[in-house]
Amino acid sequence: MKVGVLGAGTMGAGIAQVAAQSGHKVVLVDVNQEAINTAKEKLLKIIERLIEKGKWTQDFGDEVFGRILFSNEVEDFKGAGLIIEAIVENIDIKHSVFSKLESIVDEDCILASNTSSLSIAAIGSILKNPRRVIGIHFFNPAPLMPLAEIIPAVQTSDEVKDQARQIIDSWEKVTVLAKDTPGFIVNRVARPFYGEALRIYEEGIADFATIDWAMKELGGFRMGPFTLMDYIGNDVNYTVTETVFKAFYYDPRYKPSFTQKRHSEAGYYGRKSGRGYYDYSENAKAVEP
Ligand code: NAI
Repeated sequence: MKVGVLGAGTMGAGIAQVAAQSGHKVVLVDVNQEAINTAKEKLLKIIERLIEKGKWTQDFGDEVFGRILFSNEVEDFKGAGLIIEAIVENIDIKHSVFSKLESIVDEDCILASNTSSLSIAAIGSILKNPRRVIGIHFFNPAPLMPLAEIIPAVQTSDEVKDQARQIIDSWEKVTVLAKDTPGFIVNRVARPFYGEALRIYEEGIADFATIDWAMKELGGFRMGPFTLMDYIGNDVNYTVTETVFKAFYYDPRYKPSFTQKRHSEAGYYGRKSGRGYYDYSENAKAVEP
């Protein structure tokens, strides 16, 4: 089965890799040529590293890379059985993209979104056949994180739900069914994790490095909240918080933070822009708690 992935950013590139290494022909589409080039370069580096470490053979690496068509034409999705959208977290843009996708693909193609916080029912509402919409939510980095949430909307058919889950199970992911509610399971639990860390900083209780150190060394988390937000991207993370906050009728538990908003507005997205709560540039000084 041919798999289409729309958006070649952090998530889309990783999802394309997972699908290709599971044996699918993949079409990875982005409107931005630079994003495509970056995705291609990153994948080549990842494959090189896996070969160096002896995890993949050169042949397997070549095969996986060869299965992905990098493109900026959604028309290349023709004939796909599953498309996973991983573009900007904006319902209007997702609507126009899903309408376009439906006009290109066959009747039995599943249209999935990797959205972290938008309603799958709302995304599917503009489709002529909304029974084919579903949420398939991967975690960053998609090739390494084992979990995927499968989110059927009220309109999703049982066949689409079962098929989608089977496909993602066959990609050796651990799938969990989640209801179509803001943040689903993981992102809902995660909002107060980031939010409270930002509030602790804003109240002057501790700086980023100290909070991260405490959560990692004392709390047993693999990463502290600021390191994790820099990994996810402050632009993406802020938008998700804002969406979840609004979707829960402005419940103060999910209130977004000005610190994160300003970081995002300044382009301090995190690792991907070289600067977030920490400095990732070449001459950055190590940060000690
Ligand atoms: P990103 O900003 O790294 O990548 C988005 C890509 O989509 C960009 O390359 C952009 O050029 C492209 N794009 C935007 N509009 C487009 C269009 N109309 N057609 C084709 N390409 C278009 O974003 P990221 O982090 O990959 O997030 C994508 C989606 O995945 C969002 O819905 C986000 O909520 C979700 N997500 C993000 C996670 C993360 O940790 N970053 C984790 C799980 C889900």
